[in-house]
Amino acid sequence: MLKVSNIQKSFGEHQVLKDLSLTVNDGEVVTLIGPSGTGKSTLLRTINLLESLDHGQIEIGEQKVTPQTKDQKEILRYRRKTAMVFQQYNLFRHLKVIDNLIQPQVVVNKVTKKIAKNRAEQLLDQVGLADFANHYPAQLSGGQQQRVSIARALALDPEVILFDEPTSALDPELSKEVLKVIKGVAESGIITVLATHEMQFAEEISDQVVFMEKGVVVEQGKPEEVFHHPKQERISQFLSNYGLKETVPTLQRPLLRTVQ
Ligand SMILES: Nc1ncnc2c1ncn2[C@@H]1O[C@H](COP(=O)(O)OP(=O)(O)OP(=O)(O)O)[C@@H](O)[C@H]1O
Ligand SMILES: [Mg+2]
Repeated sequence: MLKVSNIQKSFGEHQVLKDLSLTVNDGEVVTLIGPSGTGKSTLLRTINLLESLDHGQIEIGEQKVTPQTKDQKEILRYRRKTAMVFQQYNLFRHLKVIDNLIQPQVVVNKVTKKIAKNRAEQLLDQVGLADFANHYPAQLSGGQQQRVSIARALALDPEVILFDEPTSALDPELSKEVLKVIKGVAESGIITVLATHEMQFAEEISDQVVFMEKGVVVEQGKPEEVFHHPKQERISQFLSNYGLKETVPTLQRPLLRTVQ
């Protein structure tokens, strides 16, 4: 289980996360939606400890971090439970695809190069890129690079995988193949937290949808509830920008044509 409790995060005077709490059960997929600048990326980066916490705590299973956690071993143990996929892939450009997958396993998880290579090959096959092992990232399309970065995240065997707008740099055709891979990850049972503007996809894969605004969770529920029966008018307004139609209430009586 991933449990975020009352976390706060500020940049200078600007408080970006305001006492935010969120629980994701094992095997669940949670999607973060909400306006730009609302703190979705900051939340993901905080869960991954790319940003430090000002207040509150985050637990993944038995492992817990708070602003008071200073023991580097403990921090490392926590970080190993998470992996993140970024909008801009963030692959090592000077390393071949296969080495992009081998290196983190060797450095972070301390596995032998042979085991890391086997796992890398298996993962590349899973994301449909077995033939690209010896290419450099620049020789791949954006969609292919993103699939490599998902494979790299999986190579770390995380308990929680975080996706920050993984398809927003891609055109729709390339997005499709990446979304298919993300769906596979989501179905594999790894706790998945995804920030996205792909509402249709969010509706399809999520167990829970979290609407965030100005650093707080405004509404959280099943996709059907949040997308089609939101409690807050604000969410309907936001969703209308995405061309998602609210459910039209069923008419009690058929409409009568006015006969002239
Ligand atoms: N390192 C930083 N230093 C200063 N301010 C930051 C930093 N990172 C984020 N912010 C600010 O925090 C706020 C939230 O940003 P964040 O990137 O988390 O929003 P978001 O919900 O992911 O938006 P988007 O949908 O556009 O990706 C913004 O006002 C942003 O400018
Ligand atoms: Mg963002």
